[in-house]
Amino acid sequence: MSVQAVRNTPVFLSACLRQPVSHTPVWVMRQAGRYLPEYRELRSKVAFEALTRTPELAAEVTLQPLRRFELDAAILFSDIMTPLQGMGVDLTFEPGPVVAKPIRTDAQIDALPELVPERDVPFVLETIKLIRPNVPRGAPLIGFAGGPFTLLCYLVCGRPSKEFGAARSFLYAQPQAAERLLDKLADAMAAYLGAQAAAGAQALMLFESWAGLLAPPEFNRFALRAVRRTMAALRSTGVPLIYYVNQGSALMESVADLDVDVIGVDWRSQLGTVRRVLGPEKAVQGNLDPAALFAEPDELKRHVDAVLDAAGPAPGHIFNLGHGIWPETSPDAVARMVDYVHERTSLAPFSRASGTES
Ligand code: CP3
Repeated sequence: MSVQAVRNTPVFLSACLRQPVSHTPVWVMRQAGRYLPEYRELRSKVAFEALTRTPELAAEVTLQPLRRFELDAAILFSDIMTPLQGMGVDLTFEPGPVVAKPIRTDAQIDALPELVPERDVPFVLETIKLIRPNVPRGAPLIGFAGGPFTLLCYLVCGRPSKEFGAARSFLYAQPQAAERLLDKLADAMAAYLGAQAAAGAQALMLFESWAGLLAPPEFNRFALRAVRRTMAALRSTGVPLIYYVNQGSALMESVADLDVDVIGVDWRSQLGTVRRVLGPEKAVQGNLDPAALFAEPDELKRHVDAVLDAAGPAPGHIFNLGHGIWPETSPDAVARMVDYVHERTSLAPFSRASGTES
């Protein structure tokens, strides 16, 4: 790849592909949301679900954080449960998702229809088309979906839970049913993300928020098998693929040979160790503790430094939090974090050197 081509590619996409960058790209999981006064203002008038279903409003909310901060990527404003509603699952947001009839039987699994995104969730695709021409600084737009296992957790338990005991016992009590449900969800998310890419999403991310509930053998058998199925179907889109594995430090060997470009990790993992285990073929995304945004400004810089130092000089690091930003976070802290990541990494000798080497 020529230097010119590298320069013209947004840094976020270059970093996903482990190409040299002028600075480390940074974005924030849940960057559009309740910590922003402008989101709360809109949300005081419109329910969450209506926001996600109204393309003009969902596009507006997606862009809010990019107007305030120099973020290097936008992420579609929606929810991991939205496509399941499109498949006829009756659920409400309170604010976490609550499923009216949790799925536990073969008959319920059989009854789940396939997802046809253009028919079932057209508003999501319309939102993407509205966002694309309006993203500040030409930052790329990330499309996303829930990991099949994480979706299973909500479908089987019916509501957010600390341990998701009903979902975990379901894997052991009805393993074949669990596999069938996961296959259906894997195919639905492949269709969903494929349609997002066709509508203009420039990278695709699967959130496996509850990966850390499983020991490696069960993670491999259930969660990872389903993710392979989804990701294999998405390679032909040609856009970078990201798999976020929350609480996944025991699962890095498992995901090392998954065919994705980027692995996202939470703050409990050490990025240097993660990169060693994953090897040179994967970029990494993360992993500042969302709680670190409550530190005094100088302390926050030291915590950002620690993440950058652990990630090291090799290309292929996308700075992010280790999980979603908390609603109580000060927007000023986010601005300080984003600006400092840029300042520190555009000055770092290794960034300059690797930027001119290619
Ligand atoms: O900015 C972005 O990151 C895009 C928006 C986004 C939302 N949900 C909006 C949202 C994204 C990427 C998600 C993904 C999501 N949703 C995940 C995976 C990521 C993660 O955090 O682990 C999960 C597990 C869900 C399920 C979900 N939806 C929960 C647990 C909740 C309630 C928790 C909370 O934050 O209160 C939701 C509701 C939800 N999704 C809100 C937002 C902004 C809050 C709704 C409101 O405004 O009242």
